[in-house]
Amino acid sequence: MEKFIHYTVMKKEVVDSLNCYNSDKIFVDCTLGGGGHSEEILKRISKKGLLVAFDVDDDALNYASMRLKNYDNIKIIKGSYVDIDKHLADLGIEKITGGVIFDLGASYHQLTSKDRGFSFSKDAPLDMRFNQDQKLKAWDIVNKYNEQQLVEIFSKYGEERFSKRIARAIVQKRPINTTLQLSELIKNSTPNVKSKIHPATRVFQALRIEVNQELLNFENTLLKVINLCDVNAIISLLSFHSLEDRLAKHILKQYSNPKSDSRIPFIEQNEKKLELINKKPILASKEELEINPPSRSAKLRIAKRI
Ligand SMILES: C[S@@+](CC[C@H](N)C(=O)[O-])C[C@H]1O[C@@H](n2cnc3c(N)ncnc32)[C@H](O)[C@@H]1O
Repeated sequence: MEKFIHYTVMKKEVVDSLNCYNSDKIFVDCTLGGGGHSEEILKRISKKGLLVAFDVDDDALNYASMRLKNYDNIKIIKGSYVDIDKHLADLGIEKITGGVIFDLGASYHQLTSKDRGFSFSKDAPLDMRFNQDQKLKAWDIVNKYNEQQLVEIFSKYGEERFSKRIARAIVQKRPINTTLQLSELIKNSTPNVKSKIHPATRVFQALRIEVNQELLNFENTLLKVINLCDVNAIISLLSFHSLEDRLAKHILKQYSNPKSDSRIPFIEQNEKKLELINKKPILASKEELEINPPSRSAKLRIAKRI
């Protein structure tokens, strides 16, 4: 494995939101990654407190397990946060008493590792899986989905305005096996518009979201988490693009200011379960932006279970 590097984003702001100094309560880190947020939580909670942390990526699990090996009050689980209810039940935990954090998206390690296929600037097989045991890879989507399915994914998850052209070019040129083949094809099939981002950025984001079912998983889990949290537990959500943030904002709003909404289970409509701690998202500080550029797109939303 390449050396594991991840720069934890808004560590202080996220962990401060949990109010966990000397706490005996139960906390959950849904996205362990390199263990940056988890380590800070462990430094703060009491010996009687407990942290349960999830990841699906073997590189992250191996690295974070080593980093946190001296702490007894953490349970690291190799599994998707989607199954949080089952995993907590297996540990005999009925309620999350302290709080939950999500640091969404991919780690720096995943994005930059040359063999993981997330990056359009490093040649690698089209992979993009967070979970190396999963069958579906980006290759399957690019080479097997029909043109209309590709258009939908690029539009929905990438908000790519040239979805149709790109999908058509992909279908004509298949098989496409590597990240560079795909990014060249995108570059050649779209007009040369002035933009700060590489022309393949949006399609790569869309493929990553589809491979890992990121938005669906986050939505389903957040709905579960709201019910697993005890009164006063904190839910802290760190997102990195507008689709994630919109989803976080929408769900928090529905549960803090309920209105009829088809996304929320009917039985729970009109039930106020959350209080927003911040109405506007918290952004990374100037100091952090200077040392950790990826933090520029981070948005933190915090709510309390009531
Ligand atoms: C941005 S990183 C977290 C970094 C971490 N907070 C730190 O400071 O080191 C996000 C992590 O979430 C993991 N992840 C994504 N989807 C997941 C899921 N459904 N279940 C568990 N972990 C997931 C990814 O594998 C990745 O390691």
